[in-house]
Amino acid sequence: MCGIVAYVGNKEAYPIILKGLKRLEYRGYDSAGVALLNQKEILLYKKKGKVSKLEDYAADKEKQSTIGIGHTRWATHGPPNDVNAHPHLSGDGRYVIIHNGIIENYDSLKKELINRGHEFKSDTDTEVLVHLIEDICQNESLSLEDAVRTALNEVVGAYAIVVMDRETPDQLIAAKNSSPLVIGVGDEDFYLASDATPIIEYTKNVVYLEDGQIAVLKKGEEIKLSNIQNQTVTPYIQELEMNLEAIEKGGYEHFMLKEIYEQPQSIRNSTLGRLNLKNSLITLGGIEEFESKFLNANRIIFVACGTSWHSALVGEYMIEDVARIPVEVEYASEFRYRNPIINEKDIVIAISQSGETADTLAALEIAKKKGATIYGICNVVGSSIARATDAGSYTHAGPEIGVASTKAFTAQITILALMALSLANKKGSIAKSRYHNLLSQLNQIPELVEKALETNDQVKYIADLYQNAKNFLYLGRGYNFPVALEGALKLKEISYIHAEGYPAAEMKHGPIALIDEEMPVVAIATRKGSYEKVVSNIQEVKARDGKIIAIVTEGDTTVREMADHVIEIPETDEFLDPLITVIPLQLLSYHVAVMRDCNVDQPRNLAKSVTVE
Ligand code: AGP
Repeated sequence: MCGIVAYVGNKEAYPIILKGLKRLEYRGYDSAGVALLNQKEILLYKKKGKVSKLEDYAADKEKQSTIGIGHTRWATHGPPNDVNAHPHLSGDGRYVIIHNGIIENYDSLKKELINRGHEFKSDTDTEVLVHLIEDICQNESLSLEDAVRTALNEVVGAYAIVVMDRETPDQLIAAKNSSPLVIGVGDEDFYLASDATPIIEYTKNVVYLEDGQIAVLKKGEEIKLSNIQNQTVTPYIQELEMNLEAIEKGGYEHFMLKEIYEQPQSIRNSTLGRLNLKNSLITLGGIEEFESKFLNANRIIFVACGTSWHSALVGEYMIEDVARIPVEVEYASEFRYRNPIINEKDIVIAISQSGETADTLAALEIAKKKGATIYGICNVVGSSIARATDAGSYTHAGPEIGVASTKAFTAQITILALMALSLANKKGSIAKSRYHNLLSQLNQIPELVEKALETNDQVKYIADLYQNAKNFLYLGRGYNFPVALEGALKLKEISYIHAEGYPAAEMKHGPIALIDEEMPVVAIATRKGSYEKVVSNIQEVKARDGKIIAIVTEGDTTVREMADHVIEIPETDEFLDPLITVIPLQLLSYHVAVMRDCNVDQPRNLAKSVTVE
């Protein structure tokens, strides 16, 4: 939810931290702050608002230091303001901390500390933690590392923290539980960040901290890694594959537009090494490893949130259609609290772009405790969800910076298509001819997405006509029902226009009362199984003066006669249709949001990764 960056070494810390915070703003941007150590004095600058506000505020202030910590916040405890901004100081001003996560028992800890004379300036749980560390250091005469360990043993909740001590100007202490934290290992320096994007331009050698681990990073020394039980851990240093330009905007106005246009490539990347057309073979690591589990499973249960939940719905249609395995799709936030009936014959699949969504991670842990086999479909390598599963497939969509998920959605669907076809082929539940045909069509999808992207100018024209609408309705049937939901989510989360997705047939059970000449209705009416029924739904809308924006198969003449706008997309099998029909909906939401001067990449109230519940 928040972004943290820290540095200790021989370079100037402030420029590294500031640039790193800007790369992490997608994780939250309510406030930002930095603490630097200069001649054993802590220089602390923090401001409400985006990182640029901090930059302006600190512009004329002393910043010389080779060690520092920085933070960009998405508020959980206490409103966004200067006082609640991180970093936070201990009572005696000696220690300073940054934190991503939630200390769930902060209130009881705070009361205890107040009884012991501590005074607090902010409403945050984080300030409680640094006071607790200070209290332990003083009363138990422990080293900072041991005091941090002792404090974290008293804490309940999620954290990624970095602590700096005014008296030890060449050392940082870091610790992690549930929230992500990556260490960059330089020649004679260390970097810390919530993900690798602030680190990658300095070093490709990283250590992903595991839950319950504590790291002591001392300039010019090796990493000292241990766990909460004070057992030494050997750090696993891996070389990052990501490169910096991959996270630049690449000439597009927004990350979201860049990521929409990256989809031919990201879909291709999702199939790389997995789709062997020549031999009609699919290789999905986790599926091979747990083949018997999958083939003998009672059912597959997807747990996810938001857009990932929509791709899970597509996965349900795919797997039940061709592999004939019962599938259920659960909102992770509901699943985790309803005491679900799960056993070892179940396979639970978590879908998550960030791999850090708290509800999805919690749902996974519950399923694991109940004996299910756990599979993950994530985009971020080394993320918490990815590391919590028995097996999984990375979507390899590349970094998705825009808060509104686009290429991750189509990459997830690509993995799900591979999974469904692989299982169907192993089970013999699909005719060989259809299997080969679908593999061949899947292989052509990147080219079809390129073609669908050519509708951009037409979509932009339509966006201009409806940019001031108060409501939108999105209708789809079958495989395109989840796409209708996704189109509606895209529009509302970046343009702030209310939008709802519905199964087209459901319209007559209520939503049709909303239809009037002010209501744009996006109808996905490609020439698929339920085409005629969608055409009837379009006629029902027209009969009530609704405005129809229809997504149709190229060459369609029927819908053209009744719709106000027709966007033609290339033909593909119904099984793969969502990979194409979603493209104009992504573009529509993007252009409407831009025309409404919304912050497309960082919409209000949202964060890219919801790492708290
Ligand atoms: C999608 O556009 C949203 N930003 C949001 O719904 C997102 O899909 C959801 O928070 C799940 O995130 P995850 O895939 O990283 O778990």
